Amino acid sequence: MAAEIISGTKIAEEIRAELKQKVDELRGKGITPALALVRVGEDPASVSYVSGKTKASEELGIYSDTTVLPEDASEEQLLKKVAELNNDPKFHGILVQLPLPKHIDADKVLNAIDPRKDVDGFHPVNVGKLLIGEPFFMPCTPHGVQELLVRSGNDPAGKHVVVCGRSNIVGKPVLAILIQKKKGANATVTMVHTGTKNMAEVVQLGDIVVAAMGSPKAITADMVKDGAVVIDVGVNRVPDATKKSGFRLVGDVDFDAISQKAKAITPVPGGVGPMTVTMLMVNTVTAAEMQSK
Ligand code: GUN
Repeated sequence: MAAEIISGTKIAEEIRAELKQKVDELRGKGITPALALVRVGEDPASVSYVSGKTKASEELGIYSDTTVLPEDASEEQLLKKVAELNNDPKFHGILVQLPLPKHIDADKVLNAIDPRKDVDGFHPVNVGKLLIGEPFFMPCTPHGVQELLVRSGNDPAGKHVVVCGRSNIVGKPVLAILIQKKKGANATVTMVHTGTKNMAEVVQLGDIVVAAMGSPKAITADMVKDGAVVIDVGVNRVPDATKKSGFRLVGDVDFDAISQKAKAITPVPGGVGPMTVTMLMVNTVTAAEMQSK
């Protein structure tokens, strides 16, 4: 039987409608949640992601401002900008779009963001808080994965989740979120990565599979058990001459084949993507609430 398609677009809309009420309440009290976005260079994917974040802010009544630094901006220039935003009480949240040009040490930049304004949840303090079960800001994509599961009726509690990929942005925080002894988590989590020898065998064990490897169609139908729930975090641009842009987006899973045997699956685009931006808006509103107390 064909799998249910979990629409991130629809679930994101649901969350944004709830969030809009909170923003309106805050604005009624004279507090406008505000997000500072920083982009370095003109990487097309980053340009597109940052403009998506601006648009989502506008729609919710969140103020946002984007600083664009040239590709050859120095690390010092970027750190100066971050310090300025840390000290500007107007902004509740700060996001530096990744990846950064190679001559800039991204870790150094992420460490420089005030953890109280770190709406990406990438600062080591926030990573540490999540790992010890006291999350402050949770990283947006992993938090979006959790919301997708829970709101689509696929609560991970007691399930075996196999996370594919060990990145700091997705894989590791998905693991940290889903092992928490909390509602909407409490899963058994296994991680596979490039060092895993018997990947197909391990992925087969997953009641839920979260694919975040950054490799087009890396998860094939034979690797997934019948009736699994498959969350595809991959966003890969593959050349496509039939498209005006010259490319199309594909995920990390073979959607067509897996949707014939999975219980439920997220599409790309329209799955995890809209959730990432939405959870960023949630974190920005939380930041505004906390900083105005
Ligand atoms: N690049 C890809 N995903 C992300 C994200 O969630 N936050 C930031 N800042 N950069 C990214």
